[in-house]
Amino acid sequence: MKKVIQHRPRIEGAIATPGDKSTSHRAALLNSIAEGTAHVSNFCVGDDRASMLRVLRGLGVRITRHNACPVSGADECFKVEGRGLDGLVEPTNVLSAGNSGTTTRLVSGLLAGQSFMSVLTGDGSLRRRPMSRVVKPLTQMGAKIMGRSKDTLLPLAIRGGDLKGINYTVPMASAQVKSCVLIAGLYAQGTTTVTEPTLSRDHTERMLRYMGANLKSSGLSHSISRSKLIAKDIAVPGDTSSAAFWLVAGAVHPNARITLRNIGINPTRTGVIKVLESMGARIRMQNVRESGPETVADIVVETSELHGTEIRGEIIPHVIDELPVLSLAAALAKGKTVIADAEELRVKESDRINATAVGLNALGARVEEQGDGMVIYGGAKLKGAAVKSYGDHRIAMTMGIAGVIATGRTTIDGAEAASVSYPLFWDTLQSLTMGGLQ
Ligand code: S3P
Repeated sequence: MKKVIQHRPRIEGAIATPGDKSTSHRAALLNSIAEGTAHVSNFCVGDDRASMLRVLRGLGVRITRHNACPVSGADECFKVEGRGLDGLVEPTNVLSAGNSGTTTRLVSGLLAGQSFMSVLTGDGSLRRRPMSRVVKPLTQMGAKIMGRSKDTLLPLAIRGGDLKGINYTVPMASAQVKSCVLIAGLYAQGTTTVTEPTLSRDHTERMLRYMGANLKSSGLSHSISRSKLIAKDIAVPGDTSSAAFWLVAGAVHPNARITLRNIGINPTRTGVIKVLESMGARIRMQNVRESGPETVADIVVETSELHGTEIRGEIIPHVIDELPVLSLAAALAKGKTVIADAEELRVKESDRINATAVGLNALGARVEEQGDGMVIYGGAKLKGAAVKSYGDHRIAMTMGIAGVIATGRTTIDGAEAASVSYPLFWDTLQSLTMGGLQ
């Protein structure tokens, strides 16, 4: 699908973003193996949600959608009937995680704990993404895993059970890998300790603790042993990564004010706010409140004068999904921005370093690709052009925001990719800019 975006003179309004994908996935997965029933409201939307729910249902979990949540009163919620740690059943068919890397990596840890056999696959993009990062620790724990390309690519055939705890140092800052090993650790004999190189998003640790798991964290190390989980109702915060598109739009547009309601502000996710503030963005947080294991707030962003910055080191895992749209902010800021230590971007839903650089350059920016990031020379006057999503939701949406800023018309090929995490993105863009979309 091609989407044509026109330059818009103003961007204004108040919105809520869809539920956070990371929190939703953990809420569904961990409640599936908990004791009792949980209601999860403000669940994430889009194809990735369908992927996680399909896989869990394939393992025998009853998950039903309700129009009014009996617990939170929300318009919609999912009732997850927990089967306990050992209640999953052998799937009768191959499980497909669609486009969802998080589903694949988290579920791999879960399947490693089951004594039955299962096969996990995904779409074309997911079948190209590296899986050795989960195969390696799970094999060390005792799972038997076979996959394409010397057990490094989907489909993976997993026969688990009889796991033993290990001490594992994750080579890359990846919450998916950390979570995979911790989930497998729930099933292992003895203690499983995962150490990460820098702190990645900690939703799994928070939720495991909230549900009663025996988990201890000390600095970058997290230790877990077999523990019974208690089902917990969760009201998922609005997705910080989806909010990032509007935070950048509001900051870079010369005539903007956007209020974002009920957004997750977990400190391992708010790197985008820290970076934008360091670039001079006018962002205010209001009404900060707790929501189960997470914290949420309303966020207001207004037209700002941005300047270049350096994004590298420990903050990278906290902005990993936001780097494409932050690159757009950098292209429009005054001065140079350097993004480094972000080689993980090359193995996301697309090679996001290349996709971002090619897209922004087509619109008139000056972005130089580096192996592990980009150098962006700011001050661009963006001009509408033809760009592509590379089948990647975050690239499609980054180009959408760029199109509102650029003069003239921007055509985005593959704009439907946005539906992976944000099916209503284009409608929201239209309502915030009062038209200008075809
Ligand atoms: C996620 C972790 C990140 C992120 C992904 C969601 C998660 O991946 O890019 O969109 O929910 O754990 P990595 O941990 O592999 O970097």
